[in-house]
Amino acid sequence: MAQKRQAWNSRIGLILAMAGGAVGLGNFLRFPIQAIQNGGGAFIIPYLVSFVLLGLPLTMIEWSTGKLGGLFGHHSPPMIMQKLGRRVHWRYIGSIGLFSSIIIASYYCFIESWIFSYMLHSLFGTFDGMTELQISDFFDRYLNLSISVSGIPCDTFLSFVFCLALNIYILSKGIAGGIERVAKICMPLLFIFGIFLVIKAFTLKAGEDGAIFDGTLGLNFLWTPQFDSLANPNVWLAAAGQVFFTLSLGMGAIQTYASYLKKEQDIALSSLTSAFTNEFTEVILGSSIIIPISIGYFGIDKVIELTQSGGFGLGFRTMPYLFEQWGTVFSTLAGVAFFGLLFFAGITSTLSIIQPTVAHLSKSFDWSQKKSSYITGSFVFFLALPCILFFDKGVFDEYDYWGGTMALFLFAMFEAIAFSWILGVDKGWKLITGYANITVPRFFKFVLKYITPTMLILIFISALVKPMNDDWSLISIHGWELDNNAIIAKLMHKGMDVNDSNIIYIDGARIYLLLLLITIWLTIYINIRVRKKRVQKHNESMMS
Ligand code: PHE
Repeated sequence: MAQKRQAWNSRIGLILAMAGGAVGLGNFLRFPIQAIQNGGGAFIIPYLVSFVLLGLPLTMIEWSTGKLGGLFGHHSPPMIMQKLGRRVHWRYIGSIGLFSSIIIASYYCFIESWIFSYMLHSLFGTFDGMTELQISDFFDRYLNLSISVSGIPCDTFLSFVFCLALNIYILSKGIAGGIERVAKICMPLLFIFGIFLVIKAFTLKAGEDGAIFDGTLGLNFLWTPQFDSLANPNVWLAAAGQVFFTLSLGMGAIQTYASYLKKEQDIALSSLTSAFTNEFTEVILGSSIIIPISIGYFGIDKVIELTQSGGFGLGFRTMPYLFEQWGTVFSTLAGVAFFGLLFFAGITSTLSIIQPTVAHLSKSFDWSQKKSSYITGSFVFFLALPCILFFDKGVFDEYDYWGGTMALFLFAMFEAIAFSWILGVDKGWKLITGYANITVPRFFKFVLKYITPTMLILIFISALVKPMNDDWSLISIHGWELDNNAIIAKLMHKGMDVNDSNIIYIDGARIYLLLLLITIWLTIYINIRVRKKRVQKHNESMMS
């Protein structure tokens, strides 16, 4: 049965849903930590340059190609890519977008479930009276599935199943009835909670509530430039990576949402509004919560040390303890506001990252939104299982590396090539500026044609063969020694001890991900065959 074409109900709903997809944990947990690790205020320069040369052009590419696909009834990355590249192999290339989105969906939904659980623990006072060490230890036990009831890793598992089920339930209600409605509730709440916490952070005073420094010390630290880090290519890569992550680029999420636009709906103003809403939330709100509060209590050196030992952990290991210093009422309020804010940010993001697969299945097999949502939900569940069960064996990092980093760059590179060089910038520019409510500076046409695709190709090549310590001069001096994080080195387990017992889990995860890719290709193949047969049958019946 052919499905009725879905669409957004209103422009504000569309922008809130798009911004909701982009505003996520990256804004509140990842950005401040990346900024600290990469030279504080100096990070913002490569970050803004990447935003203009990569972030905005790719946002426009994804919105316009998504809308184009949608007008022809295509809502998933493989079909949209084929529409651009015009040949069937582009559909297989487009599968990278689906591959990355579903992998990210699985581990992102898992993180969302930690947040949900922490929100409840804050509400019910679990952390009351715990020491810093106990709270940090609680997080380790949570991830080791050892917060259990009668031996069942009840908290970690139940929370994950609940969050996934909630996402799937919302998605089953469709674009306007589910996603748009939830974004209209979650986004305003997120801002209210965020502003409450920013006010608390700004008014934190040395000597009050156990704080050693003013909250504003953290802000000064974050925004004082250290220009020497500008010459470090790693800082540039980190900045480009953050722009990708925060704008949800290279994973098909934006394309899929944009495919539900109507013909006469504008792209230019809406896409820029949602990208700038994300930037405001990231640079203004995101940097004004955990950094000033943790520096107010621990000082700069200790916070730098804490950020070295892992990104997202700071929010879970440390923040509940710091909130405890504010007395029972405020600690509960702050805990619920902090984890509530992260939860609302998280759920609007997971919806955007699961929908591409829902749309792909629905279109490929003529299933309803509801049926595709349930089936996608089971996929995500089985994909997430190894991540949950073998978290400490490196499976989570493997998912993040292949699905959440490499696949993004690869997909974005192909998107830019297809848009700028195969479809052609002139046609592409018309897609962006047709029905536009603002004038897009022509400078972007030049950037789209030459700079964005070239930068993406260079970024991908450098990720493939990144030399040790980023010393590109090595090639001419002592030959090429790969960095442990270069794609080729990663594939060969470079830097790992051959006897390391985690290798088997890591290889297992890679095989699992490869099977996922093959399954996606199979769905594409079956779809092509079925449609061909249908056309043949139709032609035959016309002839007879
Ligand atoms: N943009 C999101 C963030 O900043 C990240 C994200 C990735 C969201 C993938 C959805 C899907 O956290």
